[in-house]
Amino acid sequence: SLAHVVAVDGPSGVGKGMVTRALTARLPGWHLLDSGALYRLLALAAHQTGIELTDAKALAALAPNLDIKFSETEEKQELIILNNQDVTRLVRTETTGGMASKIASIPEVRVALLERQHAFRQNPGLIADGRDIGTVIFPDAVLKIFLDASPDERARRRLNQLREAGISATLDDLRTEIFQRDERDRSRAVAPLVPASDAVTIDTTSMPPAEVLAKVDELLKSRGLI
Ligand code: C5P
Repeated sequence: SLAHVVAVDGPSGVGKGMVTRALTARLPGWHLLDSGALYRLLALAAHQTGIELTDAKALAALAPNLDIKFSETEEKQELIILNNQDVTRLVRTETTGGMASKIASIPEVRVALLERQHAFRQNPGLIADGRDIGTVIFPDAVLKIFLDASPDERARRRLNQLREAGISATLDDLRTEIFQRDERDRSRAVAPLVPASDAVTIDTTSMPPAEVLAKVDELLKSRGLI
């Protein structure tokens, strides 16, 4: 039988990364899929090889040929290698996020990344985060969490996150970029950002992290996962 999936969807800067890390600690051995990273890596590779971000055919052809390695440094920091190049920091910039959201609105690109995402589903289970995990990629997920928060709060969180990663940014620029990316992600024709009908939505705008994590624990218990 197919491995269990826990889906974590929501807009940018909402704290999917934090929840995903907490889930990893709760569900030892489970695999991880950061689906946004796949869109970011495809956008980066296209940019680096001179493929237009509107060229559906070339982007779809590039998708299966990306050599991607997700790992960790000895200090447990994330490490992402794309075609033998360390792109860990480059992947996380808002510029790359914007490019990712442009190519993510192209149906052929989403189809090209589908199989790649399904391949992550392996025993003992998969924790997957993104925009359409519960609606399109793994509609049979055993638990679907949809995180939300006000755009201002998300811009603030993203600023802190980037600063911690040593990437400089301003709150004003981030706010503008996050608004644009949200608008594009919510209004696209294919796999728009919407909660699955059976998702549990958590509005984290004024929730401290500990409270969000307590809620997540409660949901894991309700599904018999812990
Ligand atoms: O989550 P992250 O910010 O890394 O995602 C970057 C972009 O990739 C999003 O703005 C969205 O347009 C796209 N994306 C998507 N579907 C996913 C994950 C990400 O369309 N499952």
